[in-house]
Amino acid sequence: MMMKLPDFLLSEYGKASCTPSPVNRMMAEFAADFREAKDINLGVGYVNEQTIPRDLILKSMREVLALPEKYRAALNYGGPQGSPNLIESVRKFYLQNKVGGLTEKILDKKEIIIGPNGATSLLEGTAHVLKPGIVITSDPMYYIYCNYLERMGFEVLAVPEDQDGIQTDLLTEKLKKLGNRKNKISFFYVVSINNPTGCILSNKRKAELVWVVSKLSEELKRKVPLIVDKAYEDLVHDEAVKPLQSALLYDKADLVYEIGTLSKILSPALRIGYMIGCDGPFLRAMIQKTSDTGFSAPLITQEITSYLLDNQVLLQIEKVNHGYREKAKQVKKCIEEQLGRFLAECCGGKAGFYFYLTFRKTSTVEGSAFFRYLARTTGIPDIDGPEKDKHPRVIYVPGEFCVDPKGDLVQKGKRQLRLSYGFEEPGRIKHAVGVMKQAAEYAGNF
Ligand SMILES: Cc1ncc(COP(=O)(O)O)c(C=O)c1O
Repeated sequence: MMMKLPDFLLSEYGKASCTPSPVNRMMAEFAADFREAKDINLGVGYVNEQTIPRDLILKSMREVLALPEKYRAALNYGGPQGSPNLIESVRKFYLQNKVGGLTEKILDKKEIIIGPNGATSLLEGTAHVLKPGIVITSDPMYYIYCNYLERMGFEVLAVPEDQDGIQTDLLTEKLKKLGNRKNKISFFYVVSINNPTGCILSNKRKAELVWVVSKLSEELKRKVPLIVDKAYEDLVHDEAVKPLQSALLYDKADLVYEIGTLSKILSPALRIGYMIGCDGPFLRAMIQKTSDTGFSAPLITQEITSYLLDNQVLLQIEKVNHGYREKAKQVKKCIEEQLGRFLAECCGGKAGFYFYLTFRKTSTVEGSAFFRYLARTTGIPDIDGPEKDKHPRVIYVPGEFCVDPKGDLVQKGKRQLRLSYGFEEPGRIKHAVGVMKQAAEYAGNF
């Protein structure tokens, strides 16, 4: 008989990763019996299918393969910094459209690299090449990355944001409180249009943030990186907040690295994310990390993206933004009408595709009456529907998973939720918000 052996030796990361994160677990439970036509997913951060330019992508692929002189060996391995065509296209896209107010003079001093698998892989790379320590971010935080950072052995310290983004006065206070532990700060990570809140980091705050990080670098006598995740910056559909300036504009000490993605305006499946910042040991280590992960992002999707950026992108961005702008308006009106009396705050809806709701009293945590009403697990047949054909379920991301569990917003987070208006169509979202109203009324009885 075989002896029962102890299991494989896992790394600390492996040990921390063998149980799924709370959001992944919740989503997997829903996915197990999700009914496409019936259940409504306001939880998932997927882009809207209608925004993905299928025909253009098909045309671009044909053009790329028909032009081997320009798009050399597009179906072969690529180089670790990224396709030279794509890097040039990103640069031209920035200059021609004055993205972030960046000029040729500034971009001449920066490098652009393409990640192996979207912006996510660049964020992952950052956690591999920077020394573990404290990561400062805003609260609520991008829970997917922050959860990963924790599993990688980093300590996340989140600073509450207001309608202009991370509060720099609170940040200064928290830095002071750290005392000697300031030496343990590894890097700053800020999402310029925050996920989950949709809150837009104002230009003034961005400048203050760069200033705080520069001062800290001087104090610690070493450069502290500021990673700005601009995943949603091409999706600003409220003209009043434009133009958004790049953090690189204020960066005298070469601390800022901006990470962008083409997932949101073209297609997530292309897996194209890029980073802009100064050459140096960090950037070179990131290029090596791309090589270690898989040599490069698939060259064919890099070249397709390059073609799209050179040819059709402005029309595409306008179309995508038009779609989300209209959806945001309709959903906001519906939230106000249906949920207004239950809410203390509602932010988002000006960029990206999230609203973030704070209820006055209603608990939104997993297992709360509100949650169970929407998951159809109250045990009351009138609410849940017949066992074999339950009424439509509505999925959202509970705020409890988005706030720093050691931070200032833990209690508030239990009354919050992220509602995505990206994936689902307006009619279904409005229906779901109506069901949320019933859930809030039901929860009021507890
Ligand atoms: C803040 C943020 N950063 C990065 C990403 C991922 O981008 P990519 O598809 O390029 O990996 C997302 C996707 O939802 C996001 O919300």
